[in-house]
Amino acid sequence: MTAGDTVSQGVGAAIRSRFPIFEHTIYANSCSQGALSLDVRQAYEEYLAGWDEHGAEWEHWVERAEAARAAFARLVGADPGEIAVVTSVSQGVSGLVSALPLEPERNRIVISEFEFPTVGQIAHAQELRGAEVVHVRPEPDGRIPLERFAEAIDERTALVCCTAVSYRTGYRLDVAEVAQIAHEHGALCLADSYQAAGAIPLDVRALGVDLLTAGTVKYLLASAGLAFMYVREGLHERLLPTQTGWFADEDIFRMDISDYSPAADARRFDSGTPPVPNIYAGLAGIAIVEDVGVPAIEAHIRGLVDLLLAGLDELGATVATPRGEGEYGPLICVASTDPRALVQALQVERIVASERDLNLRISLHVYNVEDDVARILGALGSHRALLA
Ligand SMILES: Cc1ncc(COP(=O)(O)O)c(C=O)c1O
Repeated sequence: MTAGDTVSQGVGAAIRSRFPIFEHTIYANSCSQGALSLDVRQAYEEYLAGWDEHGAEWEHWVERAEAARAAFARLVGADPGEIAVVTSVSQGVSGLVSALPLEPERNRIVISEFEFPTVGQIAHAQELRGAEVVHVRPEPDGRIPLERFAEAIDERTALVCCTAVSYRTGYRLDVAEVAQIAHEHGALCLADSYQAAGAIPLDVRALGVDLLTAGTVKYLLASAGLAFMYVREGLHERLLPTQTGWFADEDIFRMDISDYSPAADARRFDSGTPPVPNIYAGLAGIAIVEDVGVPAIEAHIRGLVDLLLAGLDELGATVATPRGEGEYGPLICVASTDPRALVQALQVERIVASERDLNLRISLHVYNVEDDVARILGALGSHRALLA
């Protein structure tokens, strides 16, 4: 074992006791929902205790929402004024596209075939407003070469939507290159980074994206109902969302109904009352991620994923996730003859994974350890007939 391996094992082993599920289960489904920690449970209890003790704690709740904005900003290397706090990626992206003029000469929205359904559906909903949606398809090997994006993006493109890590295959896209192609044609670039945030370092300046969105349900270790959208400074003035709400107003508590005067910064993409309980949970989940540090988490996951890949090769399994350097992250997809039956068979052995398309999805995070990988491989070996 190398020094790196020792550190890697240490991160998982040190943190695991804060996630009670590991007392009885091997959890490898963070791509769907991160495991519940004692910290997040306690955060919910604090929210309830404050509500019980003080009744309406509006000022404190608004302060917590601003703390969430600052935490999301730190996570992606942005300024808090570039972050909208929303309840879901869907809400953020809907607000964004509502701000696109979609004039006939620039009415195209380019989406990759790996977009989460919500992004595709929101894009197609804009056809009602005159948008034309162009799909960028992957190759049979599960990659989307940059040339495919280059072919699809042109002077009529208003927005390019890409996904940092595919929820379907685990494929990790070179977002920075896609953003560059978008910019060469005067288009904006949005990176849905839900499957990366908390597991892979994200730096909006290095990526060069205009917009980036993610939520707290997965590798940020919290619960449903909280997400964020980064909107690059410099875009705020020209993006006027028509999907809005009073928490997006320049002066929330003026309670003015005489006009539409959105906040000068990315808060113009907020909406109604902040999702206060989810913000408590989100801050606790993000604090765990920040304590360890995303680069250390990435290194830890990488060690485990490489062990998993080596074991899958030994089993003769077909890995659907592209395996070039930089092409995969925390999610590995394995071809199965019957993915649902395989998920159920693993469940019987108290291993939680998930399925999409014709693949088993195994996702690893900060709390997993080498022994989890060994147990998963052992279980897959005993259900070899379900591997394609
Ligand atoms: C890549 C990606 N985008 C978006 C979402 C969810 O979006 P929303 O927050 O709107 O439910 C998910 C959740 O599974 C996802 O994996």
